[in-house]
This record gives sequence, structure tokens and C-alpha cells, in this order.
Amino acid sequence: MITLKTKEEIALMKKAGEILASCHKEIAKIIKPGITTMEIDQFVEKYLQRHGATPEQKGYHGYPYATCASVNDVICHGFPNKNPLKEGDIVTIDMVVNLNGWLADSAWSYPVGKVSDEARRLLKVTKECLYKGIEKAVIGNRIGDISHAIQSYAESEGFSVVRDFVGHAIGKDMHEDPQVPHFGPAGKGPRLKEGMVITIEPMINTGKFHSKVDPDGWTARTADKSLSAQYEHTIAITSEGPVILTEQ
Ligand code: MF3
Ligand code: CO
Repeated sequence: MITLKTKEEIALMKKAGEILASCHKEIAKIIKPGITTMEIDQFVEKYLQRHGATPEQKGYHGYPYATCASVNDVICHGFPNKNPLKEGDIVTIDMVVNLNGWLADSAWSYPVGKVSDEARRLLKVTKECLYKGIEKAVIGNRIGDISHAIQSYAESEGFSVVRDFVGHAIGKDMHEDPQVPHFGPAGKGPRLKEGMVITIEPMINTGKFHSKVDPDGWTARTADKSLSAQYEHTIAITSEGPVILTEQ
């Protein structure tokens, strides 16, 4: 079932999104070689607490942490751990912020120190994929228009789009209908209506798109060990066009 949000509800989600965006800005400042993803996770917990918000991912289907921290070949849902990040790594920090029952979801990939040319290009193209998707998030388009814009650009750059994880609508629940795949034909899928709020969260690999999940039941990696990056925003579909809620 697709639930449409009122302007007032979207404004409440934007408040959650602003806290999320400012938290990502702080993370960008502290990510350096030597920091651990567990330290980043603890920083996020305290940051959200100070801002009167809670980490929605913690406890979600038993997920144990506030953030997902996905390093190099990890696509998504990596557990924060005590291994120091190394110069040249890339790491995606994903979190869902709950402020007074309304949610916002945003993931960002970060370079650790100086990274390879290939990694830098992957980060750039993946972020461009997100914004190409957002451009299509307008009333009257279909979900497939977002999917196709992302897939065609990623593949034109020689990268692949993860199939096993997709974007989603969001509101008081983290995962609402419809799903938002980052691959597939234009002109298909549900039509976008005023008041829909969705995530667009392309996961893009330098190698093939196939993924496999570690024995921990969460950590999803590229099957071929290639690098993977992700950028995600929460977007409201409005009569004024797409509004990014996870931006300050
Ligand atoms: N934030 C993720 C998303 O974009 C969901 C993380 S799964 C969780 O859909 F279990 F960690 F919550
Ligand atoms: Co997310």
C-alpha cells in the first residue's frame, strides 16, 4: 500500500533529515586513516541523542548498530567494527534517523585519505547517479524512469548497478511501498504522485553487479570483490518538483 504524506508530515520528515544531513557533515570531518567504524557509530549515537533523535536501524529486524558501515567491496549492511580505516579505503555510512516518529534515510560514501583514481571515479559517478535519479522524481513520471536514468548512466561509465538491494518509500516505517530499483526500463512501475516520499540509493560496483551475504546474515559484498559505493537521499515528490529532505 502506498501512503501519501501531507505537507505537514513532509515538514516533520525534513526535520529528521536535517539532523541526518548535519550528522553526515560531522562524519565527513572525522573520517581519516586510523578511525574505526565503531567509533563513527558511537559518534552517531551520541550526536542523535544530543539532537533528540534516535537511530532507527538499531534493533530493526535485529540489526545491532545505529549505522551500517560498508568498506570497499561491501555493498551495504556492513557492521561497524574495531578495524582502523586505512588510507585508500572507501566507506559508506548509512543511517535512518527517527525524530518524533518520522524517519529520514541517507547514506554517503567517503574516501579515507587519498584513494585510487578508480575509487575516486566510482564515488563521483555514484553520486551523479543519485542526482540523475532525483531529477526524474517528478509527478507523473514512473518509478522506472528513475531506475532507467541511473542504470543507463552507471553502465555508460563502465560500472554496474546492484540488483539485490533497492530504494523504498519511507514515512513512519523504514520500508514502505513502492520499491525503487536502480535498474530497469523507463516508463514502467507505479506512477509518482504528490506526497510520495521515497529513497533513491544507488549502489554501484566497479565490477559485476552480483552480491553475496556473509555468514553474519547482513554484510553484503560484491561477489567478484570489486569496489562498491552508495549515495542515498530521502526525496519528497511535490508540486514544486523533487525536494531532498536529507539536506540542510
Ligand atoms: N538504511 C537502509 C536503507 O536504505 C536500511 C538499512 S537496513 C538496517 O534501506 F537493518 F540496517 F536497518
Ligand atoms: Co539507508
